[in-house]
Amino acid sequence: MKAFYITTAIDYANGSPHLGHAYEKVLTDVIARFRRQMGDQVHFLTGTDEHGQKVQASARKRGIPPQQFCDEVSAEFRALLPKLAITNDDFIRTTEERHKRVVRQILQDLFDRGDIYKAEYQGFYSTRQEQFLQEKDRNPDGTWPEIFGEVTAITEANYFFRLKKYQGWLVEFLQQNERFVFPKYRQTQVLEFLKEPLNDLCISRPRERLEWGIPLPFDEGYVTYVWFDALVNYYSAVVDRPGIWPATYHVIGKDILVPPHAVYWPIMLKAAGIPLPEGIIAHGWWLQRGSKMSKSTGNALNPLDLVEQFGADAFRYFLIREMNVGQDSDFTPEQFLVRYNSELANNLGNLVNRTLNMTTRFSGGVIPPAGEAAEPERELQELWAKTAPECVALCEGFQFHAALERTMAFVTATNAYIERRAPWKLGKSAAPADQVLLRTSLATMAEALRLAVALLQHVIPGAAAKINGVLGYSPGGVWREELAWGARLSGNKVAEALVLFPRPAAPAKP
Ligand code: ME8
Ligand code: MG
Repeated sequence: MKAFYITTAIDYANGSPHLGHAYEKVLTDVIARFRRQMGDQVHFLTGTDEHGQKVQASARKRGIPPQQFCDEVSAEFRALLPKLAITNDDFIRTTEERHKRVVRQILQDLFDRGDIYKAEYQGFYSTRQEQFLQEKDRNPDGTWPEIFGEVTAITEANYFFRLKKYQGWLVEFLQQNERFVFPKYRQTQVLEFLKEPLNDLCISRPRERLEWGIPLPFDEGYVTYVWFDALVNYYSAVVDRPGIWPATYHVIGKDILVPPHAVYWPIMLKAAGIPLPEGIIAHGWWLQRGSKMSKSTGNALNPLDLVEQFGADAFRYFLIREMNVGQDSDFTPEQFLVRYNSELANNLGNLVNRTLNMTTRFSGGVIPPAGEAAEPERELQELWAKTAPECVALCEGFQFHAALERTMAFVTATNAYIERRAPWKLGKSAAPADQVLLRTSLATMAEALRLAVALLQHVIPGAAAKINGVLGYSPGGVWREELAWGARLSGNKVAEALVLFPRPAAPAKP
C-alpha cells in the first residue's frame, strides 16, 4: 500500500518558533490524524532548514559556530511538537548526513545531464532574501523594495540550473493536473507567474561569501543555494524507505509557493527523473493587526504561552476552527476567548458535564439502554445522519473549519435535546413511561457525545481521549463504522465528573 506521505515546510533555524509555524504543524497533524482514521498508512515529516546566509548571520551575531547555533534552535522547534500533540513520524535536519548525501547526488546527477552549467553573473544581490535581483524587481522610482534589505552589485561566476528549459513542460503539467495546488486559486497564480519567461536559477554561492552550506560535488569552491538544498529534504528523508515517495502533500505557507515549491521543486524533480508529489497545500498567514506575524518584524506570538494557559486542545481547536485553509486570519486574544468559552467550555464541556452528572444521579453511573426513539430522538439522529458524511467530505477537502462548525452545531442540538427532554424532571417521576423516557434520554445524550467526539478527535485528541475514557469507551477498529449511531455505550460505567475546559482566570496574553 502506498503511504499517505505528508510534509510541513522545514523552518529556518534562525529564530524561535511562532504561531505561524505552530499552525502549519497543527494543520498538517490534523490532516495526518484524519487520514490515519480513514485507514491510510500515513508518513508525516517535519524538520528544520539550517543552511544559508540567514543562519550564518544569526550564529555570528551570537558569536557561536553555526552548527552549535542550529543544534539549539532545531531542538527548540523539535521540543514544540509534543506540546502541540503533533504525531510526526520523522524530523529531518538539513545538516544531517542523510540529507547532504542526497543533495549532492542530485546536484551531480543534474550536472552530468547538462542541466547545471557555469556562467558569469553580473547584477544585484539581496542578502536578506538570498536571491539575485533583476531590473523588474525594482520599485518604479528605481529603488529596491524594502523586503530585499541591503542590495549590493556583484559580478561573479556561478552555477545555474536550467529552469527555462522546463517552463513549457511545467505549464502543461499544471494544466493537466488542475488540482496540483490547493486552494485552486493559488494554482491560477502559479500559471500567471509562468506567463513571464523564467530565468535559469543560480544554485551556487562562492564559499568566500557563504560558508554555511553543502559544497557542490563538482566544485568545492561553492556551496549550494539554500532553496536547492532545503526542498530536497522531502525526498532525502524517505529515499531509503520503500513505499513512501512520492509525497502526497507538501503543506506550506503561501509565501513559499511561487516560485520555490510550485516552480523550482517540480522542475528539479522532473529534471532528475524523480516522480512528482501529488499536490501542494498552501495555507494563508496568521496576522496581527493586519500584518504577517514573523520573526523579523517582531510581532510574533509565542505559541507556548497560549498552550500553557489553555492547553494544546484549545490551541489546536482555535487555529483550525478560525482559519479557512488558504486564507489569512487575524489573531486576537478576544476571539480566542470567545471560541474557548462559547464552543469548548459552554457547548462541548456542558454536554460532557450533563451526561456524566445525570447518568450518575439517575442511573447509578451506568449508561442505560435506550427505549424506542420518539420524535426528539429521531430529529437528533437525522441531524447526525447528515452531519457525519458532510463532515467527512469537508475534512477530505481540507475544510476543517466548516466541519468543526457543523460538529459543534450537532453538539448544540444535543444540548437543546436535553433541555427538551428535561431528564431532571423525568427523574422525579415514578411513572414507568417517564422512566423509559429518562433512560432513552440518558442513552441518547451519551451516544451523541460519543459521536461528536469521533468527529473532533483529530483536532482535539487529548480531550477526545479523556471524554472517551470517562464514557468507558475505547475506540478502535474501523473509524467510519464508529460514526454509526448505535448502542455501543450501553451498560458502560461512567466517571462522575471531568473538567476539560476550565473557565480561564485571565484573558489570553496579547
Ligand atoms: O520559509 N502564518 O522557513 P520559515 C502562517 N525554511 N504561516 C507562517 C507564518 C505566519 N504568520 N510565518 C511563517 C521557510 N509561516 C523555509 C522553508 S521548505 C523546503 C523551506 C510558515 O521558517 C511559512 O509560510 O520562514 C512556511 O511554510 C513555514 O512557516 C516556515 O517558514
Ligand atoms: Mg519565512
